[in-house]
Amino acid sequence: MNLGLAAAAIALSLSSNAFAFDAAALKDAPKVGGVGMKITDAAIKPWNISYFYDGTNLPDGKGTVSAGEKIYNKDCAMCHGDFGEGAHGYPKMVGDPVDQFEASAKAGVDAVGNRGINNTWGNAPTLMDMIHRHMPFYAPGTLTVDESYSATCYVLNLANIVDENFVCDKESLPKIVMPGAKLYTTNLGSDTHNIRCMKDCYKGTPAVVEKAASIGDVSVGKVEKRDSH
Ligand code: HEC
Repeated sequence: MNLGLAAAAIALSLSSNAFAFDAAALKDAPKVGGVGMKITDAAIKPWNISYFYDGTNLPDGKGTVSAGEKIYNKDCAMCHGDFGEGAHGYPKMVGDPVDQFEASAKAGVDAVGNRGINNTWGNAPTLMDMIHRHMPFYAPGTLTVDESYSATCYVLNLANIVDENFVCDKESLPKIVMPGAKLYTTNLGSDTHNIRCMKDCYKGTPAVVEKAASIGDVSVGKVEKRDSH
């Protein structure tokens, strides 16, 4: 990175656009400053913009596929491609169909380059959350709530999840069954069935497996792993 670029990057990260918050709510909120100040709910409100997977906290407002198309073409297509196919190395919006995605993941084929909102998203409200809080990548927080609903609606339509007349709002988004939903679980219990054991636990002959380690397409050599189960 040359110095000019470094300076530009620092300027961008210091501009208020680099932080996502509710600008309207911030105007009325008590100012926060100084160590040890009591943080009130009113002071937190502008920053409390997370929308949860089940739709909790989704704001009033709405968006349409046609309004979203204009926003997408202006603010998103340069990175995510005109048809959601990805551009300049930025992520696709539309990846492999979910069954194909799941099969390649299970076969150990690197599926990262094939992911999209049609396979790795379990819920539509979190898509709205991501877009409103995090996109466009260079200026997060600049989309209004209605613009975010519209951009969400458009990418859902690009991925054939909703039709062109669909209206996105806090009632409709939680009802969408995302194609990738079956790959997700909300069971917060233990994720192993092993019995706790701290000593002489392995019965049998230890096997040594060799695995090629790779990051994307780049092989970073072989690692030996002793199966000490
Ligand atoms: C400058 C390039 C750029 C622009 C412009 C941009 N994005 Fe992104 N987008 C990214 C990057 C980089 C990621 C991955 C970020 C991450 O995982 O933290 C991403 C991730 C996403 C994802 C999640 C994809 C997935 O499957 O995980 C969505 C959805 C998304 N962007 C939507 C949008 C929308 C809608 C717009 C326009 C309002 C937009 N993006 C504009 C670069 C961009």
